[in-house]
Amino acid sequence: MPQKDLLETIIEQVRPLLGKGKVADYIPALAEVDPTKLGIAVTTVDGQTIGAGDYLEPFSIQSISKVFSLTVALTLYEEGEIWSRVGKEPSGQSFNSLVQIELERGVPRNPFINAGALIIADLLQSRLGAPKHHMLEVVRKLSADPHVIYDKRVAASEYEHSARNAAIAYLMKSFGNFNNDVDRVLKNYFHYCALKMSCADLSRAMLYLANRGQSLSGQQVVSPIQTRKLNALLATSGLYDGAGEFAYRVGMPGKSGVGGGIIAVIPGDMSICVWSPELDKNGNSLAGTAALERLSQALGRSIF
Ligand code: DON
Repeated sequence: MPQKDLLETIIEQVRPLLGKGKVADYIPALAEVDPTKLGIAVTTVDGQTIGAGDYLEPFSIQSISKVFSLTVALTLYEEGEIWSRVGKEPSGQSFNSLVQIELERGVPRNPFINAGALIIADLLQSRLGAPKHHMLEVVRKLSADPHVIYDKRVAASEYEHSARNAAIAYLMKSFGNFNNDVDRVLKNYFHYCALKMSCADLSRAMLYLANRGQSLSGQQVVSPIQTRKLNALLATSGLYDGAGEFAYRVGMPGKSGVGGGIIAVIPGDMSICVWSPELDKNGNSLAGTAALERLSQALGRSIF
């Protein structure tokens, strides 16, 4: 178990990096965030959470929600039904790229790029009567925080600027790989991305990834083998075309979001969340990655 003072030291060590990245502004409501926010939280498999900096402040989780969506899909579908619609390979492209979808006939490389997450949202839409409500219940239960909400302003702002995601979804539909009404699925997807959670919430909610599929409250969310598979996908595709750099520096399965959050997992041990809104060129939190690098070095832990 890392100590709180280690987390506080890490926060101070990476603070000088603030100002070196760029807050996401392609979703206007996201650009309003205070760029100096910086937080880290760790939840260990014995259920304890510690944190430092702004670790209790909710932020827009954005693409981190793609982990929850895939997890819910795994509880609703046979694996083959999912993997016939979306691949398991790193994309080597930016998270909202269109080119590969055209070249690869409407089947996205993995469930963590936007195209793949839209396929998962389409799958959830087909099986759930109220997909937004269901997702909120899932994350509230996983994080043990009944106050988690959708930031409706962020969801609306993204809907107003949805041309690229809509283009991705329609392109996949043109290849026959999209079943529901694009607009309805986009609205749900934007809500998932607009979930507001703190580092403490997210580190608790992701504990099942470190604990053979068992959540903080003891619920078996997915099986141990499915957990291993989720972590494999996170290690290879969770940081988009920065996945290699992240594996090299941090050495943990992880998932980033353009809100500046990153979750990471040390299987068998702990789940971690960092938050710093300024991003690097791949759209991953710049200071957040540095904080995770320092934590993995301090603990002497990596999956490699
Ligand atoms: O669809 C989008 O573009 C955003 N809602 C989420 C993108 C994102 O977080 C990518 N992460 N690094």
